[in-house]
Amino acid sequence: MSKTAQLHFDGKVYELPIVEGVENEKALDISKLRAETGLITLDPGFKNTGSTTSSITFLDGEKGILRYRGYSIEDLTEKSSFLEVAYLLIYNELPSNDKLESFKQLITEHTLVHEDMKKIFDGFPASAHPMGVMSSLVSSLAAFYPESLDPNINSKVIDLNIIRLIAKMPTLAAWSYKNEMGHPVNYPDNSLGYAANFLKMMFSLPTEEYEVNAVAANALDKLLILHADHEQNCSAATVRVVGSSEATLYASIAAGINALWGRLHGGANQAVIEMLEMIKADGGNVEKYIKKAKDKNDSFRLMGFGHRVYKNFDPRARIIKRHCDDVLSSFGIKDQTLEIAKKLEEVALSDEYFVERKLYPNVDFYSGIIYKALGIPTEMFTVMFALGRLPGWIAQWKELREHGQPISRPRQIYTGETLRSYNK
Ligand code: SDX
Repeated sequence: MSKTAQLHFDGKVYELPIVEGVENEKALDISKLRAETGLITLDPGFKNTGSTTSSITFLDGEKGILRYRGYSIEDLTEKSSFLEVAYLLIYNELPSNDKLESFKQLITEHTLVHEDMKKIFDGFPASAHPMGVMSSLVSSLAAFYPESLDPNINSKVIDLNIIRLIAKMPTLAAWSYKNEMGHPVNYPDNSLGYAANFLKMMFSLPTEEYEVNAVAANALDKLLILHADHEQNCSAATVRVVGSSEATLYASIAAGINALWGRLHGGANQAVIEMLEMIKADGGNVEKYIKKAKDKNDSFRLMGFGHRVYKNFDPRARIIKRHCDDVLSSFGIKDQTLEIAKKLEEVALSDEYFVERKLYPNVDFYSGIIYKALGIPTEMFTVMFALGRLPGWIAQWKELREHGQPISRPRQIYTGETLRSYNK
């Protein structure tokens, strides 16, 4: 007998079904609420609202648990690789070695982008933010692969579009950086691994080929794993909403890139480094900025702190913080912003305001310090987040279609003018 909850309204009693997940999460199924009671629910920011069931990622905000398809983020970061994790997220199983090799082979066959895309590039001023360039270019892929527009697209074509996206994103990302620098673009070197190939396309110059540093490539591969999915976050929810209208995979991912760009979401990693640099320039006065973050009349927020779901710690932040020390020491870098970040964390976590609101460092708090150590410019930090999140977005879009989910169309409570006649 499935559990129910009772709703007493307008002199009637309604039984609402309770849905239970495999980790004992419980939800009130309100899919028939309006038809039966005339009521809708109201939940700005969906803080209490589930949009779907999903078998991709499990988070426990209280216990700081993050698992992709049942595997812990700690295990995957330590033992797996980004492309293996991408395959796991999208196809629900860790690939055999043969399957992984053919997945990698397919990706290397699609790393080139159509030469005509350079004409789109050339239209962007150097001042264009790489996230805007990326979302435009990913959206334009539908123009080069019109078969992706078929609403009855079959799984083979979907798989090919998935390969194209995973293969071309690093190339488009590196090109968006070269556009900003006014440098000639580099072409992929398919003899290299995914992260190494990206770094080489980013940093090679006609005058000097970039020597891939194995420590840098490994650190980047781990960062991509840590960003690969995060259930129904703002950008994944956006990908699902756009995908629910039967928009193409390319259009849905481009929408996710735009949602991630905001500084409350993926744009936070750029905002964190800008904040740390500001504090450093201001003499490293951590207490002053903690005070500002607590002041309701001050718009300053401690970027990289707080999370909608994690209320104890973000397991990714812990892993990245550990990697920070390893990467900086292997490059012999003494980065004062890391010291400032650690001091901010120490002071904030003993301050009532942060403790009471359960605000802890999130994935964005330390990631920028590693990106900076790898030589990646601040404006590219959120692009790195998008590169990592791509397989998660793809998995969410694919699951939405496989579930046959209806088009997303929330309701509202109207608070505007009542009927009035037009008599100007
Ligand atoms: C990501 O959802 C995901 O999974 C996202 C993500 C992913 O992998 O996809 O994990 C990636 O987006 C991480 C978050 C990156 N954003 C930031 O670091 C920006 C700074 N953080 C916040 O703006 C905020 O904490 C959010 C946006 C992350 C969460 O916002 P919520 O859940 O809507 O919480 P809220 O804004 O209602 O804050 C609750 C209280 C408020 O104070 P009161 O009104 O109760 O007095 O906490 C305060 C807020 O003012 N608060 C902060 C704060 N974050 C929240 N105060 C100071 N500094 C902060 N950073």
